[in-house]
Amino acid sequence: MKSTTQLGAIAHTVMERCEMLSHYSEEPDRLTRRFASPALSQANAVVATWMQAAGMTVEHDAIGNLIGRYEADKMGAQTFLLGSHLDTVRDAGKYDGPLGVLTALACVGRLHQQQQRLPFALEVLAFADEEGLRYHNAYLGSKAMTGVFDPRLLSLIDADGISMNEAIRAFGGTPDPQRLQTPRWRRDEILGYCEVHIEQGPILESRNLPVGVVTAISGQKRFTVDIVGQAGHAGTVPMTLRHDALCAAAAFILAAETLAKSIPGLVATIGQLSVQPGASNVIPGQVSLSLDVRHQDDALREQACQQLYERARQISEERKVHLHWQLLQDDPSIACTTRLFQLLERAIQEEGYPIYALPSGAGHDAVVLSKLTDVAMLFVRCRGGISHHPAEAVKVEDVAVAIQVLERFLLQLS
Ligand code: GLV
Ligand code: MN
Ligand code: MN
Repeated sequence: MKSTTQLGAIAHTVMERCEMLSHYSEEPDRLTRRFASPALSQANAVVATWMQAAGMTVEHDAIGNLIGRYEADKMGAQTFLLGSHLDTVRDAGKYDGPLGVLTALACVGRLHQQQQRLPFALEVLAFADEEGLRYHNAYLGSKAMTGVFDPRLLSLIDADGISMNEAIRAFGGTPDPQRLQTPRWRRDEILGYCEVHIEQGPILESRNLPVGVVTAISGQKRFTVDIVGQAGHAGTVPMTLRHDALCAAAAFILAAETLAKSIPGLVATIGQLSVQPGASNVIPGQVSLSLDVRHQDDALREQACQQLYERARQISEERKVHLHWQLLQDDPSIACTTRLFQLLERAIQEEGYPIYALPSGAGHDAVVLSKLTDVAMLFVRCRGGISHHPAEAVKVEDVAVAIQVLERFLLQLS
């Protein structure tokens, strides 16, 4: 086992690297790193150099995921997967994603430094899209890597009119449907996947715990809802004769909030709204909004989505506007694998920390990886439970605990 000072220095490097990566942004004053953006390309390039320095061979796959590989102590061994994502939301914090990539890298770097190899190879995966910010469709990176990418997504268009196909090409990838539908590994080639991630919620902090083991990850559905009314003059059209798309959207947004509040565990979010034509003296003629619905129970989530659709239809009828309801993403809830979950618990206990298990309301690449292999996740306490926000913060001491636990977990696996 490492000395506390060594661990502290390693954790400190992880924190410094998260800070460094936060400067690779598409926007000057805030961190925004969308899928296949130049900022992601820069982040990938610097992480690739860190991977090489940690003794890994490095490659990019067809969609632009970055993969570092550290060979086993023998030929033909299976591979264990670690990692997380390097894309971010808009105006993001520094740790959602990069922390998982960099803690994994720290463990491999440590093995390399000690010239130690495990009976299995390690791959550190830095996924190119977990957030779905650019194309409103999450997990593009892990879906391509596991061969469940839907090639119809290639024709999606981003806010600047760039298709996913073009974006992947510009990023240096290969938008070839066949390659994007081919899993990187056969099932029997891999042993499992473990992801370290900030908790993004307040539970660990409230219990004064540095880390926790994830039991399950909530499923999510994402929709685009377009409401088409009639644009017109703000000064001349009487209120009774209007078909204001934004007023209809407002009614729907509040209806979604009311429904979500009435069902324990349900969360519904409208995070993006575009109003056309968008002038202060023009009645809104068209609104596009995003809708994100989550619940751990798949049937309950499905039912809630149906209710939301019915409510949107009613509102549209009452207000004589048109409704277009489009499903963009549908991922079920998953349970983390008992075997790996228990190993993580043991690792935490053996490192001298209390065990605590909790579910994840946030989505993670582990959801997609679970279709191919066993998955586990280790959560790290974050300040105030704040995430998807620049105030996201973790303590260097907690990062040290996560590295310690991950190392022990890998040793137990071997
Ligand atoms: C990713 O952070 C998500 O849960 O949307
Ligand atoms: Mn996120
Ligand atoms: Mn994340």
